[in-house]
Amino acid sequence: MSKRALITGITGQDGSYLAEHLLAQGYQVWGLIRGQANPRKSRISRLASDLSFVDGDLMDQTSLVSALDLVQPDEVYNLGAISFVPMSWQQAELVTEINGAGVLRMLEAIRIVSGLSQSRADGSGRMRFYQASSSEMFGKVAETPQSETTRFHPRSPYGVAKAYGHFITRNYRESFDLYGVSGILFNHESPRRGAEFVTRKISLAVAQIKLGLQDKLALGNLDAVRDWGFAGDYVKAMHLMLQQDEPADYVIGTGVMHSVRDAVRIAFDAVDLNWQDYVYIDPALVRPAEVETLCADSGMARAALDWAPTVTFEELMRMMVEADLRQVSREVQYGDLLLAGNW
Ligand code: NAP
Ligand code: GDD
Repeated sequence: MSKRALITGITGQDGSYLAEHLLAQGYQVWGLIRGQANPRKSRISRLASDLSFVDGDLMDQTSLVSALDLVQPDEVYNLGAISFVPMSWQQAELVTEINGAGVLRMLEAIRIVSGLSQSRADGSGRMRFYQASSSEMFGKVAETPQSETTRFHPRSPYGVAKAYGHFITRNYRESFDLYGVSGILFNHESPRRGAEFVTRKISLAVAQIKLGLQDKLALGNLDAVRDWGFAGDYVKAMHLMLQQDEPADYVIGTGVMHSVRDAVRIAFDAVDLNWQDYVYIDPALVRPAEVETLCADSGMARAALDWAPTVTFEELMRMMVEADLRQVSREVQYGDLLLAGNW
C-alpha cells in the first residue's frame, strides 16, 4: 500500500517541489487548497498531474478536521503560511492567526481525527506531522552558526508566530506523544520562488533589464546576509525527517553565508552587466527590524538524515537568472503581459 500525504501550502514554492518528490517516491498526495477559485491551483496541477486536492484553510478548524478525515494521511506537511516577512508588520494579527494558531488548529485536527486517546497509543499507524519552522526565529542571532540549541530572538511578527508554531509542535509531541517534528529551514530559493523575495526579485529584474524591459532595480538592505540553498534539496530533508524512528527537530541550511550584494553581483555577472549601473537603494524597502545575518549548522541533519545540499549559491542564482530569461523572452515573444508568477 502506498503512503498518503497531505500538504498544506501546496500552491507555494515548497509545496510544488515536495509534491513532486513524494509522488516520485510512490506516495498518494493531496494538497489543501483554500479559497473559492484559487488561481494558483492550475499552476500546480500542470506540474504534478497525479496530485489530488481537498478544500481547507488554516484559519478554519473544521475544514482541517474534514480534510484529514477524508484523506486519512500517514504524513501531514504543514507548509501553509503567509511567508513574506514584511507583510507581517502590515497584517500582524492575520499572520499570527495563520502561521501561529494555524499550527495549533492542525495539531488539534490530527488529535481529533486520530481519536483523542489514540495519540498516546503505541505509535504505529499514527499520523506524522511536519511543521515548517524558520531560521527567522533566530532573528538577532545569539551565536553563529545557528543550531537546534541556539536560542530564539525573532525580529518580526512573522518570526514570533513561527516560534509559537515551533513550540506548540514540540509541546504536542511531549504532551500527547504525537509524532511531530519541526524543520528549522534557512532561506531556500528556486525559479518557483515568489517574485517578492529578494533573490527572485533580482533574477527577474536582471532578465528584464537584459531584454530591455526595465531600467533600474530598487532594493533595501544590501548588507543583509543569508544562508541560501535550493528548495529542491530542502524538501527532501522534510521527507527524511518524517521517516526517522524518533521525532526530532532539525536545522537545514548550507552553512555558507552570502550578502544581498553578492546575490546582485552574481546575477548581473551572469548576463555580463555591471550591477552598479542599475541598482539603487530605496529606504522604504529597509525593514523596521532586520535580521542581519543567518548561517546554519546542519551537523545534526547531515549525521542523522544523511542530508546535504547539492546546489551552491552561485549555481542557484545563475539557475534563477537563466529561468527568468527564458520566461520573460517567452512572454515577449507571445505578447503576454508579464506574469511573474508563471512557472
Ligand atoms: P510560499 O511560496 O509563500 O507558499 C505559502 C503557501 O501557504 C501557499 O500555498 C499559500 O496558498 C498557503 N497559505 C497561505 N495562507 C493560507 C491559509 N490561511 N491556509 C492554508 N494555506 C495557506 O512559501 P514557501 O516558500 O513555499 O514556504 C513554505 C513554508 O515554509 C512556509 O510556511 C514558510 O513560512 C516556511 N519557510 C520558508 C522558507 C523559505 O526560504 N522558502 C524558509 C523557512 C520556512 P494560497 O495559494 O492559498 O495563497
Ligand atoms: N524581499 C526583499 N526585497 N528583501 C530585500 C530587499 C528587497 O527589495 N532588499 C534587501 N532585502 C533583504 C531583506 O531585508 C532581508 O534581509 C533579505 O534581503 C532577504 O529577504 P527575503 O528574500 O524577503 O527573505 P527573508 O529572509 O525575509 O525571509 C525568507 O526566509 C525565511 C527563512 O529565514 C522567507 O522565505 C521566510 O518565509 C522564511 O521563513
